[in-house]
Amino acid sequence: MNIIITGATSGIGKELALQFAAKGNKVGLIGRRTERLEELKHEIGELAYIRTLDVTNFERAEKVYQELIDEMDGLDIMILNAGVGRIKTRPAWRIDESIIEVNAFAFAHGCHFAFEYFLKQGYGQIVGMSSIAAHIASGRAAAYTASKHFISNYMTGFRQKANLTGADITITDLKPGYIWTEMTERNNNMFWVSSVQKAVQQMVRAIEKKKNHAYITKRWRLLAWAAELVPQWIWDRLKV
Ligand SMILES: NC(=O)c1ccc[n+]([C@@H]2O[C@H](COP(=O)([O-])OP(=O)(O)OC[C@H]3O[C@@H](n4cnc5c(N)ncnc54)[C@H](OP(=O)(O)O)[C@@H]3O)[C@@H](O)[C@H]2O)c1
Repeated sequence: MNIIITGATSGIGKELALQFAAKGNKVGLIGRRTERLEELKHEIGELAYIRTLDVTNFERAEKVYQELIDEMDGLDIMILNAGVGRIKTRPAWRIDESIIEVNAFAFAHGCHFAFEYFLKQGYGQIVGMSSIAAHIASGRAAAYTASKHFISNYMTGFRQKANLTGADITITDLKPGYIWTEMTERNNNMFWVSSVQKAVQQMVRAIEKKKNHAYITKRWRLLAWAAELVPQWIWDRLKV
């Protein structure tokens, strides 16, 4: 399989690259930090293809995705994993702006690129890195939770789009709970936290099985179900 992974310079994306490459897949790796990509290329070897890219630069992104596809000689799976959480050093609006730009806008752009490519090819798989946050709302992370609602809902739309076209395109919505990565390293209020290795093993299995949805780790399904039972008037009164 040939797989592009955005946000491969750290955390979940990096571990996806390592685990998929260990199984003999070619991996096209994207992120802004070139030195991290070079280290990963050194670690993985000839199965790794790297490109420095800010995914919010849409014009360049299209060029880079196509370059990687040409270099790898095809594409089977596009994993749209790049994402940002709260960047506390910026003013409030700037934080939300960058979260929406990367998590929603660039996600949608990558989804379109991959869908068009797979439509012409007749098959393929798009994997989106949503979150358990797609089931909740939070006053402390309004843009982040909303961006993950966007991702999951957008993927349902694309699954229906694929049904309409009749093309064999799988849309896999991954919803992780807490995982130890650079994004969460300063978060002290976490529970059911998974190591990145264990979480990514479950992600790889879900992708290989072409699942539409997967909670990572599996127990987070319970929280998703519970969250869906909470009425709007309670969400409106919460202080979370
Ligand atoms: N960790 C968790 O508990 C958790 C839970 C649910 C969902 N998630 C989701 O999982 C995904 C990966 O997060 P992580 O936990 O692995 O955090 P991370 O270690 O901070 O990784 C984020 C990745 O996204 C890349 N990225 C950010 N902005 C980018 C941009 N503009 N262009 C290209 N790449 C960009 C980063 O690369 P560069 O900085 O090199 O560009 C990095 O490789 C995110 O979508 C996150 O929302 C994480």
